[in-house]
Amino acid sequence: MTTMAPDAGTQDDAAYEAQFNAAVAAEERIEPRDWMPDAYRASLVRQIAQHAHSEIIGMQPEANWITRAPSLRRKAILMAKVQDEAGHGLYLYSAAETLGTSRDELLDRLHAGRQKYSSIFNYPTLTWADVGAIGWLVDGAAITNQVPLCRCSYGPYARAMVRICKEESFHQRQGYELLLALSKGTEAQHAMAQDAVNRWWWPSLMMFGPPDDESAHSAQSMAWRIKRHSNDELRQRFVDICVPQAESLGLTLPDPDLTWDEERGHYAFGPIDWDEFREVLRGNGPCNEQRINQRRTAHEEGAWVREAATAYATKQAERSRHGYRAPQDQQQGDTQEEDIA
Ligand SMILES: [Fe+2]
Ligand SMILES: [Fe+2]
Repeated sequence: MTTMAPDAGTQDDAAYEAQFNAAVAAEERIEPRDWMPDAYRASLVRQIAQHAHSEIIGMQPEANWITRAPSLRRKAILMAKVQDEAGHGLYLYSAAETLGTSRDELLDRLHAGRQKYSSIFNYPTLTWADVGAIGWLVDGAAITNQVPLCRCSYGPYARAMVRICKEESFHQRQGYELLLALSKGTEAQHAMAQDAVNRWWWPSLMMFGPPDDESAHSAQSMAWRIKRHSNDELRQRFVDICVPQAESLGLTLPDPDLTWDEERGHYAFGPIDWDEFREVLRGNGPCNEQRINQRRTAHEEGAWVREAATAYATKQAERSRHGYRAPQDQQQGDTQEEDIA
């Protein structure tokens, strides 16, 4: 074995890095087995995990209304939506696992408060209209954020986002339709819809993250083509989409400074209360404690399911090592025998 020159490793890394940068610049996808800078991997794990956590924590505020949905149709829609969010969490944990961090580890980080989820889910759902406001505004903001992620440089994340975005657009539509029904309903229903929009509007704008000049990860993420647009650009796009939609809904947005800026070709909007954002992020939002406690309880109560699934997988692997055929591959008679055994 020859001795490697002291700087050989560094040179190799530099060559790999050049190759990686060229692939990103050429809009090629980076796949799990490709070489990637450690910081790129760490940044993706952080972002994808935070995204996955948001999907599963986000199930809580809306699940709160499943038993109280006003009709069978509304209940079926809401159940489908909450289940979709669980599925989004699963696709995203799987995408994060391709980077070499296990789902268990990511969940541990969430439960220990070492990884965050979107601060929007720390607000309470006070009335049925909140389900509509979340669908229209929160899922709407998520789509605005996530459509560009379908072109993210990391393949598994980009591909997960394609399906997620299709489902998010159903979520946004059902929220809009729910609010429209309330807005056109009785005076009390209209007031309930307006109140929900008043409470969810500002937190939705905060979903895009801090302003560009304060956003710690933005510039590097954009250079790596994980992100395609800055926080402020996406926030502006969302406001521009929502203003005419609010008009069609017959509802107002709670911002006296919201005006069309002819020169910029965008809606101008009032200042965002970043102190509130930071407080919620620090754990002092109205529901932070409740959300994380419920998540931990769900995880503990689900331990037997994980154990059973692992035991089943081990049994299957053992059987296939001994040439056992799975029941579905056998004749019906055999299957029945196996079932009894
Ligand atoms: Fe989702
Ligand atoms: Fe959604």
